[in-house]
Amino acid sequence: MKIIAVVQNKGGVGKTTITKMLAEWFSRHEKKRILALDLDPQCNFSRRFLTMELDPTDPHGILPPIHPDFDPNDPDEDPTWGGRSSSAAIYTGQLVVPYATHLKGLDILPGHAALLDEVERVRRDDVQQRVHNALQRWLAYPEVNEAYDLVLIDTMPSKGPLTVSAMRAATHVLIPTEMEQQSIEGLVNMLQLWKRENFARADQSEVNLIGILPNKVRKGVSLHEGLYGSLMNDPSIKPYMIPMQLHQRVGYAEPDVPGTHPASVFDRPKSDDVRKEAEILVAYVEERVFG
Ligand SMILES: Nc1ncnc2c1ncn2[C@@H]1O[C@H](COP(=O)(O)OP(=O)(O)OP(=O)(O)O)[C@@H](O)[C@H]1O
Ligand SMILES: [Mg+2]
Repeated sequence: MKIIAVVQNKGGVGKTTITKMLAEWFSRHEKKRILALDLDPQCNFSRRFLTMELDPTDPHGILPPIHPDFDPNDPDEDPTWGGRSSSAAIYTGQLVVPYATHLKGLDILPGHAALLDEVERVRRDDVQQRVHNALQRWLAYPEVNEAYDLVLIDTMPSKGPLTVSAMRAATHVLIPTEMEQQSIEGLVNMLQLWKRENFARADQSEVNLIGILPNKVRKGVSLHEGLYGSLMNDPSIKPYMIPMQLHQRVGYAEPDVPGTHPASVFDRPKSDDVRKEAEILVAYVEERVFG
């Protein structure tokens, strides 16, 4: 089983957009069995695939819908289960029940704002066992490991415990970045986290860096071209740069609008630039991850 974590502590760089593209590509075109995990309390990834609900106990909170398999009248139903499941359950020890999506082969464990916030706030002394190592432990269970070919993890804009847990569990990481100063700083943070993780793993298997993906790049904008040039001139960064860019194009944002057609960049015309760039990206990721 391959596990890709998409990480970057700067917000808005395209983590969710890219995770969604990978989920669509690998389920629809490569017929892989995929589990997507939303580790972000904002639940943006979950909203693309499930009808999320407002949490009555939390004015800003979002939670997953009642699971279609939940039957409170079934005497065999787990009495501790309230009918919702989320990625947070991996950390809290509650029942973990992935949701099927409209895409064949793609299951999702959605976010749950209040519960993920709680996990992210776990105290220092037991954070390692309860959070950092919890996702890796859960993904190693044979019933999970054998059920999926690929796990995709969309993370929150943070380098906190949940992001560390994603990095710990991952076989591969992908770091999207905008060509703007704060995103470059976030990218450097993520490279450090990746190196620290490999150091901590010692003799265990390595976590591979798929690479750094320049996203939302605008041609002819000197800030973007200048920062891109400086990354390509930096010997500590250049080897990790994915040899392509996703440009700033409204076609990447359009599928975020509910009910929009096409709902996926891969449904755009073959000659469309958005689709062409996206296909180059997924082919690159596929080659790096599956060989
Ligand atoms: N190449 C692109 N061109 C145009 N818009 C894009 C592109 N990539 C992403 N976007 C848009 O930018 C916004 C932020 O993207 P996204 O939500 O994927 O970032 P994120 O890193 O997941 O953010 P957060 O850190 O808040 O989770 C979204 O509205 C998305 O549609
Ligand atoms: Mg996101």
